[in-house]
Amino acid sequence: MLLSVAVVFFAVLGALYLHLKPALSALGVGRIIQPVGNVDCKTVPHLQACEKLVLHQPTGLVYLACSTPHSRTHWTPALGQLNTSGRSESDYVATYDPRTDVINRLSFSGLLSPGGISSTTGNLSAPDAHKVGADSVIEVLKTRIESGTLQHVRTFQDPAVIITPNDVVGSPDGRSVHFTNDHRHKAGLKRLVSLLALARDTSIGFCHADKGCKFAYTGLHASNGIVKGTSPGNDTFYVADSVLGDVTVLERQSDNTLALTEVIKTDRALDNLAIDANGALWAAGLSDALGMAMRQMNDPSALVASSAMRITVNRGLGSFYGEKYNVDKVFEDPGELASGSTSAVYDAERGRLFMHGV
Ligand SMILES: *[C@@H]1O[C@H](CO)[C@@H](O)[C@H](O)[C@H]1NC(C)=O
Ligand SMILES: *[C@@H]1O[C@H](CO)[C@@H](O)[C@H](O)[C@H]1NC(C)=O
Ligand SMILES: *[C@@H]1O[C@H](CO)[C@@H](O)[C@H](O)[C@H]1NC(C)=O
Repeated sequence: MLLSVAVVFFAVLGALYLHLKPALSALGVGRIIQPVGNVDCKTVPHLQACEKLVLHQPTGLVYLACSTPHSRTHWTPALGQLNTSGRSESDYVATYDPRTDVINRLSFSGLLSPGGISSTTGNLSAPDAHKVGADSVIEVLKTRIESGTLQHVRTFQDPAVIITPNDVVGSPDGRSVHFTNDHRHKAGLKRLVSLLALARDTSIGFCHADKGCKFAYTGLHASNGIVKGTSPGNDTFYVADSVLGDVTVLERQSDNTLALTEVIKTDRALDNLAIDANGALWAAGLSDALGMAMRQMNDPSALVASSAMRITVNRGLGSFYGEKYNVDKVFEDPGELASGSTSAVYDAERGRLFMHGV
């Protein structure tokens, strides 16, 4: 009896391991960190816990959504950290000018819902966030280069579609937005079950100022960073999988839903995406995603390896043999220089790679 129970137990454990093996390896289990590109770099100590970077190509200015490392350990809904009383109430957007090293914290004008604007907003008075999840909305803000302010334009709110928003692609007129939901469920055991099942239950939502919100695509896995082709009329969207490391390529349809084109495989969990001036796609590679979730979320000073991945269309001979894309690891660091980076942005005109993390 005992023997057959043990046999069943280990069979189940073995099956679970085989099922999770691709995820575990993409999350960094057994990965040997091979530093590359991490010399001739500098750090900007005054910028802390900036989860996402955006480059303004003409000026070379970098926009950053920042918090405090302490706050992130209490409030990072994407990783299930949902302790409202420990979260910062002074998250901010900054610009960084690499020519002068000047950091500018932008001030807000206009009404804002309570909360920050970094990756998520929420109901600060809700004491039960750990049970019900973050009360998320999407804020649209407007700014001008060198103005120093962010002006509130509108708030998108729809709990049925804006479930666990992670990253956004806003339309230039500020009237609509595509965004990823990084989970199907806001909180609780269902999230763990969904994670272990590797369920394809995350989504892309679309909200419009006049028409409200709807799902643009469902059935993704761990959808995280989202970016759109930057040249005029380019309606190709790219979505990163923050567990398995896939990049899903989708095409915008006339009703703003998205249609699947193809999937680009990489060897590691990916976070935010960016497209540079030459059209290359950049992804923050979570070399040690488990370390970020398990160690850094307890101790922000824990060193967690980071990488930057560049994906380009393969114009070489390999393309004839089905290798449609080149996936290159341009940067990797064990964590002393870049620890737990969640954003990688390349200024192709000035040859500068910027990285920062949650
Ligand atoms: C939530 O944050 C508060 C304030 O930092 C802290 O005292 C408390 O221990 C935290 N609770 C949990 C469950 O981590
Ligand atoms: C915020 O949460 C509290 C407690 O759950 C609730 O009473 C209040 O109505 C919520 N406010 C908003 C604006 O959702
Ligand atoms: C759209 O942008 C992507 C990313 O830069 C590029 O690879 C792709 O070729 C572009 N598509 C078209 C139709 O120009």
